[in-house]
Amino acid sequence: MKLQIINGPNLNLLGIREKSIYGDQNFDEYFNDLKIKYTKLDLHYFQSNIEGELIEKIQEVGFEFDGIIINAAAYTHTSVGIGDAIKSVNSPVIEVHISNTYTREEFRHKSFLSAHVRGVILGFGLKSYDLAIESFLD
Ligand code: DQA
Repeated sequence: MKLQIINGPNLNLLGIREKSIYGDQNFDEYFNDLKIKYTKLDLHYFQSNIEGELIEKIQEVGFEFDGIIINAAAYTHTSVGIGDAIKSVNSPVIEVHISNTYTREEFRHKSFLSAHVRGVILGFGLKSYDLAIESFLD
């Protein structure tokens, strides 16, 4: 099974940025752990700080991969374009967030993605991504 993880802006700074919210592990390390844990899966990882690059990646894999797990980070709350890209592709998409965005500022309560995804997992730290992967397994 081919799954694409897509991370949006500032998630390249995990482990450095606002550790009390996002924890102290960097995503590259965590992604290696995921590859070891899910050896039978074909896991791919892409991160960009640029909205158009995230849209291009969704279009690139979204007609071929078995699933997409996306944390669009701040673009979650602003991007009609990412929402439309998710709506346009065939692959099922799971939206994830590290933090529970509903316990934070009100502008984080709105997601332009949620209406177009199969499900949303948030608030479990990096484990949100594990749970998203598990959702694709039998
Ligand atoms: C985030 C939550 C967003 O509100 C924020 O802009 C992020 C990360 C999360 O994973 O908790 O950058 O998506």
